[in-house]
Amino acid sequence: MSKKYSPQTQLLHATRLAPQYLNTIQPPLYRASTIIFSDIAALEQRHWTDPYDYSYGTHGTPTTYTLADQIAQIEGGKYTLLAPSGLSAINLVNSCLLKQGDEVWIPDNIYGPNQEHLQYLSEHYNIHVGIYNPMAIDSFQPSAQCKLLWLEAAGSVSLEFPDLLAFIHKAKQANILTALDNTWGAGLAFNPFDLGDAHSAVDISVHALTKYPSGGGDILMGSITTTHRPLHLRLLKMHALQGIAVSGDDCAQIQRSLSSMRIRYQQQCQSALQLTNWLKTQTAFAQVLHPALPDSPGHQHWQQLCPTGLAAGLVSVIFKADYSLAQVKQFIEQLQLFKIGFSWGGPISLVMYYQIHKMRACEHAHLSDGILVRFCIGLEQTEDLIADIEQALTRIV
Ligand SMILES: Cc1ncc(COP(=O)(O)O)c(C=O)c1O
Repeated sequence: MSKKYSPQTQLLHATRLAPQYLNTIQPPLYRASTIIFSDIAALEQRHWTDPYDYSYGTHGTPTTYTLADQIAQIEGGKYTLLAPSGLSAINLVNSCLLKQGDEVWIPDNIYGPNQEHLQYLSEHYNIHVGIYNPMAIDSFQPSAQCKLLWLEAAGSVSLEFPDLLAFIHKAKQANILTALDNTWGAGLAFNPFDLGDAHSAVDISVHALTKYPSGGGDILMGSITTTHRPLHLRLLKMHALQGIAVSGDDCAQIQRSLSSMRIRYQQQCQSALQLTNWLKTQTAFAQVLHPALPDSPGHQHWQQLCPTGLAAGLVSVIFKADYSLAQVKQFIEQLQLFKIGFSWGGPISLVMYYQIHKMRACEHAHLSDGILVRFCIGLEQTEDLIADIEQALTRIV
């Protein structure tokens, strides 16, 4: 740049562009609110429905669009929108697809804050929320006003694996859109857009990228994936209206982790299975919950949908009913490697307790009485995790 400007102006305008041929392992990172138009024609030609609309940071940058495309590919879908957390992705689906007087159905083991958001919509916007038992298709009884069915496989905390195909078929017959919280399967255990026959695909897959895609326990993000452009455009419009945007830095971090996601998922799956088998031998527990166990609720549906044997690294146990809540808390506090915390899919193993029977709206004969403890398996050596639980069990008084 010539010296015709003052030093301050020169400093601002001295951009050094990378040469076109520069090739790197990780793509360059774009951070943008403003995106500069080359001329008026470019300004007037760009439109928010363009697949790659480079007009303002909230719409997207090469960094956000690259990650969105990678997630669409992992999920087996075509179009992906990114949101600042898994919960905000869920909320976008709810607020876009539901209006006053509509009905939505959720399983009683859905991710809790989704239910709370719908409860809020129900109180403020007269949206009816039906709750079904994920183990009983007949408990899903939609009315003519039903617009949306939420699915989750495996369900939160108690890990029941529903008959997804039966629920999807029933919803499709009634022209009800289906949205799957696909965080557990992560696009790896099964393909939500190809579940068997031609009529067996969800309409929307929501993924808390906070878990496996991030993999570090440090980045929050969510995604909404579809295969149907008109539905994508409905969601995109709400995305734009609500100003939902993610940071380029966060996208770059997730992109970096995506290359190891399948390996981490497989490793945590194997470790969880080994731990599950050991937990089954322990007398303190009335029940061990993991879809790969033949006596875990929905095992046969998991087998059908996940023939490669993949499952997320989550295992829950229900302590025998004679263990008090205080004793279960004591057990958790004795654990050294398992840290007390929410979330999963990260490198450090986590533990949390739940008074599960107070959380479920439907009949839950498939769950034993007692306090539930969920283990989220990290990347530690499995034998060390087993030894940690073993020593903590011996310290319960
Ligand atoms: C099944 C499931 N869905 C969605 C979310 C929400 O993700 P985020 O924490 O990014 O809001 C979570 C978080 O724990 C989850 O477990």
